Amino acid sequence: MTGLPRRGFLAATAAAVACPRVALAAPVVLRAEPVTAQILPEGDGTTALLGFNGSAPGPEVRVQQGDRVAVRFENRIDAASALHWHGIRIENAMDGVPGMTQDAVPAGADFVYDFRVPDAGTYWYHAHHRSWEQVARGLYGPLIVTEAEGAPDVDHDITVMIDDWRLERDGTLIEGFGGMHDFAHGGRLGNFARALLSLDSVPQGARLRLRLINTATARIFPIEIAGVKGQVVALDGLPLPAPRDIGDILLAPAQRMDLIVDVTDTVRFDFMTRQGPYELGRIEVSGDRRLRGDPIPALPFAGRPEPDPDARLHVLTLQGGAMGGGHAGDDIWAFNGVSGLPADPLRRLSQGESLRLRLVNDTAFPHGIHLHGHHFFEGDATGDLRDTTLVGAGETRDILCVFDNPGKWLLHCHMLGHQASGMKTWIEVT
Ligand code: C2O
Ligand code: CU
Repeated sequence: MTGLPRRGFLAATAAAVACPRVALAAPVVLRAEPVTAQILPEGDGTTALLGFNGSAPGPEVRVQQGDRVAVRFENRIDAASALHWHGIRIENAMDGVPGMTQDAVPAGADFVYDFRVPDAGTYWYHAHHRSWEQVARGLYGPLIVTEAEGAPDVDHDITVMIDDWRLERDGTLIEGFGGMHDFAHGGRLGNFARALLSLDSVPQGARLRLRLINTATARIFPIEIAGVKGQVVALDGLPLPAPRDIGDILLAPAQRMDLIVDVTDTVRFDFMTRQGPYELGRIEVSGDRRLRGDPIPALPFAGRPEPDPDARLHVLTLQGGAMGGGHAGDDIWAFNGVSGLPADPLRRLSQGESLRLRLVNDTAFPHGIHLHGHHFFEGDATGDLRDTTLVGAGETRDILCVFDNPGKWLLHCHMLGHQASGMKTWIEVT
């Protein structure tokens, strides 16, 4: 990666702020506003971004499974916006999609999001209006839903937001978010990457829950974590039936992974580039405590939906982009020859109906395809449940979903420049 020099770890200046349990009568406020962040190492220049409540990323919203989240979104940037609660099985009206579930919130106006969180896990919120620009400018933050019962016994629970930025050497954010060249290729990739951690020093031997979130608008991160022994316990928020070996970590934009690990040495998060490892961040370790001997605990398993074995098949071909074939759409990217949101949904389903979507990637790029309001199986009913699936160039991937949440749900590429230039559609559940 040709990037800015990286001079070791610095503490996240955009420290995560843990919100107290959200009270019904007093909504937590998320005020979108311009902020200054220390993205480059301390001593190097700062970066003017957008954030929430004075920090970018925004504060960690931490609630308990089953709670009601009431957040007053105060839009104090000079553009319209809206907030999406990525991965939450949410009531459709609270999904934060301008033009589909609400009007964009004008500059200076407020909107109250009020919904229940049915599933424990690692989620995030982000702007969903001109998201390719607003998310790149910093309008996102973690949404952590703790287990109502059976929370795993760990010493520290650490959120790890992984992002990249396109910066001048002095830290200035480079403008030009809607570049057609970026859109037609892999999206707007940054030249500086970093993991923003909610805690950066722990005792040796501590047991950690690490909540990885890829918040980049385009970059897929292959990650290696040094200095730990542990297992993967959740993907895209949802617990795995049993912990799994860590293996290769690959996070597409918007994907999450939870790990429970024991600390054996300085914990280092490396982005494995073709030029070698690029350090994203680290957790310093002190003391000399022995490791716990007990096995890594599983998260309380929530069960899985039961898709209809006779679910109908709908083939969705991903088309366009540089070095791709032609298509009938009128923008850079298309699904089945259609660019952008069609007036009619891709499919109308009745609540509870299962559908198998065959994603055929007929382009020269990978795409991270995200469905709103649901989790789906990757492959078949034995696959992992996810809300975002990475489909490699030329690859075909089935996703199987029980559409049990009524409303209008987007299905789009989470490489946000691809979404902006055509790769999106929607499904209606009635
Ligand atoms: Cu995280 Cu429609 O997005
Ligand atoms: Cu894409």
